[in-house]
Amino acid sequence: MCGIIGIAGREPVADRLVSALARLEYRGYDSAGIATLDHGTIQRRRAPGKLVNLANRLSLEPLEGLTGIGHTRWATHGAATETNAHPHATPRVAVVHNGIIENYRSLLVELAVDGYMPTTQTDSEVVALMVTRWMDLGLAPVAAVQASVSRLQGAFALVFLFHGEDHLLVAARQGSPLAIGYGAGEMFLGSDALALSLFTDKVTYLEEGDWAVVTPESADIRSRAGASVNRVVHLSNASSNIVEKGPYRHFMLKEIHEQPDAVSRVVGQFIDRGAGTLAVHTPLSFDFAALPRLTVSACGTAYLAGAVGKYWFERYARLPVDIDVASEFRYRQPPLEPNGLAMFISQSGETADTLAALPYCADNGQHIASVVNVEESTIARESGSVFPLRCGPEIGVASTKAFTTQLTTLACLSLVAGRARGVLSGADVEALIEALNRLPGALAEALRAEPDIAEIARRLTKARNALFLGRGSLFPIALEGALKLKEISYIHSEGYAAGELKHGPIALVDETIPVIVIAPSDELTEKTISNMQEVCARGGRIILITDAQGAETHGAMAAEIIVMPQVHPFIAPIVAAVAIQLLAYHTAVQLGADVDQPRNLAKSVTVE
Ligand code: F6R
Repeated sequence: MCGIIGIAGREPVADRLVSALARLEYRGYDSAGIATLDHGTIQRRRAPGKLVNLANRLSLEPLEGLTGIGHTRWATHGAATETNAHPHATPRVAVVHNGIIENYRSLLVELAVDGYMPTTQTDSEVVALMVTRWMDLGLAPVAAVQASVSRLQGAFALVFLFHGEDHLLVAARQGSPLAIGYGAGEMFLGSDALALSLFTDKVTYLEEGDWAVVTPESADIRSRAGASVNRVVHLSNASSNIVEKGPYRHFMLKEIHEQPDAVSRVVGQFIDRGAGTLAVHTPLSFDFAALPRLTVSACGTAYLAGAVGKYWFERYARLPVDIDVASEFRYRQPPLEPNGLAMFISQSGETADTLAALPYCADNGQHIASVVNVEESTIARESGSVFPLRCGPEIGVASTKAFTTQLTTLACLSLVAGRARGVLSGADVEALIEALNRLPGALAEALRAEPDIAEIARRLTKARNALFLGRGSLFPIALEGALKLKEISYIHSEGYAAGELKHGPIALVDETIPVIVIAPSDELTEKTISNMQEVCARGGRIILITDAQGAETHGAMAAEIIVMPQVHPFIAPIVAAVAIQLLAYHTAVQLGADVDQPRNLAKSVTVE
């Protein structure tokens, strides 16, 4: 994770580095720091905790300089202290790093032999020490970086500045994203186009193994082998993505409320509303009819969207689906049938594990498709077909509108696949399209339950543990309910398939544990009612998420009921998602938690 920024400028850089870091804080907020060159000398300011601490520090102890680098940290190696904060520096060089240097221990042993000793617990400091050693041996800065980077294993995006080199930055990329921004007489480096959009919309993404020598006038990009290479300059539209909280108390709440509009836009990408027919706006690089199998990889909430998608693709398109969390998939080496479709789901499009799973699939004869929000992201750029969520920037660390737009995209695609494979009749498609057309209105209606949910959340704050249960396509929603609650309220929660309750988790059930059952009326309701009875028989307190019909048939068993609109079971998981999001949000707010930036998390997980 971590966000990095560099400016080779002609105006003072300290304030601008901090402003850019504010746009990168979603990548981690354990500490922040900047280094600038003040008349050739490296100066640093760093502070543990959020960026505001660094800004306060700089207002007391400002930094001069026209060239500088900055970093916002998500701690991997070493606690979130000032000592471990980037930039790491020696008198000769300062560096910011995003990624993990896997062989740092053995490199430190080598350096120690020559008397280069670390002062931090980080993996990143080794890079500063290596470059210093090479410079002490007589190499110029660029050559010292090249010699050092060739020894690094793992993932990194690095930006260096050097004592006595007032107009020079050197950058390198392997496995972590890094972009160059072209300004007027100034050049920029950053983890993403959003940070660079403060300064320029002309952006080049470095490719794997690239490194770059950057001055205020130019960027000389070289391949791993050292040859100068040309990389395309894109016109980024990231600046249009700057967002404010508006009247909402938190970004998460704003994003929850944006969902009716966001899913409506997705539905519009797949359904011609006038004709009531499917109309895919993305050119497909594969043929659904010919696919032997769909393989889905993703992480966290995006994985759970894929897990719901599995139910839809298998049912409506008779397309077999394998799904795994990307961190497992990437090392599992599963056999893949040639000409299958590998699909990667990711809000950020930069998640390290998801990204790493992609080349394996490409090398094993799969068509590559992705469902992403950030259309300029690495995963999007490496996909044959991209299905963009277009839900606008998601700032809250806990994913909400990206989840429901991922679900909506997968729901629509399952119908496209079902039609292409001759599984769904015209009448089937018509009924399911009608359900999808009703979705934005249903989500708006679901949001009206917010006051009731806030009241239920008040009682949920007393719990130390919670169980979420669901069946069929609502099982992954139970998992997502547990994930949302634990990540923002820190209440321990687990999600289970309702039928699994009796195979273990029922041992936990007593009067102290809320059991949140997601059971709108559908063909499996009766089964779930049996599970609710098992909970009641053991004194468990049920919070039931259902619809009006479900409230009537099995509401009596619940201590509390959250009533969602009555919808076609096809879209019920998307509607239920709103209920679990609001429940987690209001519980966390009432517990006084930092909802938008929960502890230990970061929005974009760019390390494995
Ligand atoms: C949870 C959450 C995470 C992300 C996961 C994948 O609320 O947001 O679990 O879903 O880190 O991130 P992306 O979708 O950017 O690949």
